[in-house]
Amino acid sequence: MDELTSIADMRTWSRERLKAGTRVAFVPTMGALHQGHLSLVEKARTLADEVVVSIYVNPTQFDNPEDLAKYPKTLEADLELCRAAGAAAVWTPDSAEMYPDGYCTFVEVVGPLTDKLCAVARPGHFRGVCTVVTKLLAVVRPDVAVFGQKDLQQALVISRMNGDLNLGTEIVVAPTVRDPDGLAMSSRNKRLTPAMRAKALGLPRGLELARRAYRAGQITSLKLIEIVAEELLVEEGVDMDYCDVVSLKGFAEAEHADDACVLAAAVFVDGVRLIDHVPLAGAAIPVKAD
Ligand code: PAF
Repeated sequence: MDELTSIADMRTWSRERLKAGTRVAFVPTMGALHQGHLSLVEKARTLADEVVVSIYVNPTQFDNPEDLAKYPKTLEADLELCRAAGAAAVWTPDSAEMYPDGYCTFVEVVGPLTDKLCAVARPGHFRGVCTVVTKLLAVVRPDVAVFGQKDLQQALVISRMNGDLNLGTEIVVAPTVRDPDGLAMSSRNKRLTPAMRAKALGLPRGLELARRAYRAGQITSLKLIEIVAEELLVEEGVDMDYCDVVSLKGFAEAEHADDACVLAAAVFVDGVRLIDHVPLAGAAIPVKAD
């Protein structure tokens, strides 16, 4: 596996593949890799001849300096996992090159995709994500890039940006991977103690109970949101950042849910922010909810 740091080396690596007619898939990450990331690499391997993984904790997408400082960093283990997963290269750019002194260019998606949920809860977040993803794609120039469905709004924003800017990469979204207890895999889960994790399980459990209620005929969004809140807010140290029913048709908040809707939520568990969602017409989340 090639380990690359500079933009120039990453560009040379990609140009060589382009010249040789090698199809390249790209998995951008912020490291602290887990099985969810590895499922993206696995998916990427089915879509191309070689896979590049980037590991870069992008400072411009953090609205909270403490969250950035506490973001888990496990580079040596990440490199091992990428090697074992069959990545052909790992690129670990650094901030001095990504955002040199005087840097002043940003990419922003406006409209319904970025006026709710994480966009409101984390001002500037998607501007940072879009900026870094544009820069990463501009250097790697992959045929295809794979993102996780857990970050649904991010995947939709990036797909939109990629199309609007004619970046020419195919964007593929791969399913959320969950631990057996139902918690969606996230690098932030590394910050949860067993007690915090027990509280965090209220999130998938609440979403699943609301999904079941929808399937049983409850279509009032407020009632579905209440089900999630009741499951979560009984625990001390748990705060709801947002919980909303959003239609994938137009990404609009829906007063009444239908099969095109997802129920999405973000919570703080003793200060650690976790997000998750469930498509209301989708499969059950495997939780103990009886
Ligand atoms: O999902 C992530 O890990 C990040 O937002 C991404 C897409 C790598 C951009 O920094």
